[in-house]
Amino acid sequence: MVKRRKLISYTAFSTAIAVITGCFGGNSSNGQGQTVNVGTMADLKAKGELKGNTPKGPVTVVPNGSGGQISAVNPTCTHNGCQVEWKKANGKFVCPCHGAEFAATGKVLKGPATRNLPTYATQVSGNNVLVKA
Ligand code: FES
Repeated sequence: MVKRRKLISYTAFSTAIAVITGCFGGNSSNGQGQTVNVGTMADLKAKGELKGNTPKGPVTVVPNGSGGQISAVNPTCTHNGCQVEWKKANGKFVCPCHGAEFAATGKVLKGPATRNLPTYATQVSGNNVLVKA
């Protein structure tokens, strides 16, 4: 049997650990998904895209228009599951398997895919690009 004083001590220790891991972990969870850091805006500008993994699957972040907006999509083709590739020069995703094309927003531009790529919410914090999944 655990005495009351020890139980309070264990509870305080567990709470402290939870607060520390929540504040300093690489990813955070707030019950509404996790936020994943996929790189910096400088990396995005240099490479043309950022890739990462979220608890809900892979993510590719690309520029969306000329106004500095960005989009985060799951690059798994909705036709048959191949990984679409970002074509920076054309500003669209192209599937290497059967040629489907998607806009930076994930919207279908050309079949055989009929469903848009799933998207994630993004946030730029300082220079870091965060994806919420
Ligand atoms: S798997 Fe992408 S077009 Fe078929």
